[in-house]
Amino acid sequence: MTAATRAKSGDRVYTPQWLALDMLQHFQPEGLVLEPCRGDGAFTRHRPGWSWCELDEGRDFFDWSRPVDWVFTNPPYSKLRPFFMHSARVAREVCLLIPLRNYFSGYGFVRDAREFGDLVHIRLYGTGGNCGFPMGNAIGACHWSRGYRGPTGWSDGSRRAIQPRLPLPLGGR
Ligand SMILES: C[S@@+](CC[C@H](N)C(=O)[O-])C[C@H]1O[C@@H](n2cnc3c(N)ncnc32)[C@H](O)[C@@H]1O
Repeated sequence: MTAATRAKSGDRVYTPQWLALDMLQHFQPEGLVLEPCRGDGAFTRHRPGWSWCELDEGRDFFDWSRPVDWVFTNPPYSKLRPFFMHSARVAREVCLLIPLRNYFSGYGFVRDAREFGDLVHIRLYGTGGNCGFPMGNAIGACHWSRGYRGPTGWSDGSRRAIQPRLPLPLGGR
């Protein structure tokens, strides 16, 4: 294992069951599906037929080269861009649960991802706190599709309803 492929402890943020089940139900990945970093099996325990990698178990995703229909996961955030780029090499559909700013804050990443395909859908899960993650940023599951050019759909899968903001009183700020 090299320093480049060693997982950082902050990358071990496992997907809670309610969220994994919601993603599976919402996106319904079919065909050959790869969980590239299965962790403790948040997704694969519900889909035992999926292929999987996990660095902690000696299967490095960056060694995977077989084409698949989907890559579907919550990836290590410190390696998000290389994870996306490698997913784009092997898959037709890519669905990643991520802090949205980790994607949208980098123009180079957005540009490279769009060369693969546009975002088909973003399913919002509220803040990291809503997901039990140790960060407060907006979390969403993003689905990119190879060659897709079109609008991006949005939906809200957060467990707690996000409170609508009350209208401001007339003349108030
Ligand atoms: C954010 S956790 C998520 C785990 C799981 N996908 C889930 O949804 O609960 C990311 C996982 O990626 C693994 N990982 C990091 N680098 C990897 C690599 N190069 N290949 C395979 N797994 C890796 C870590 O060990 C960790 O278990």
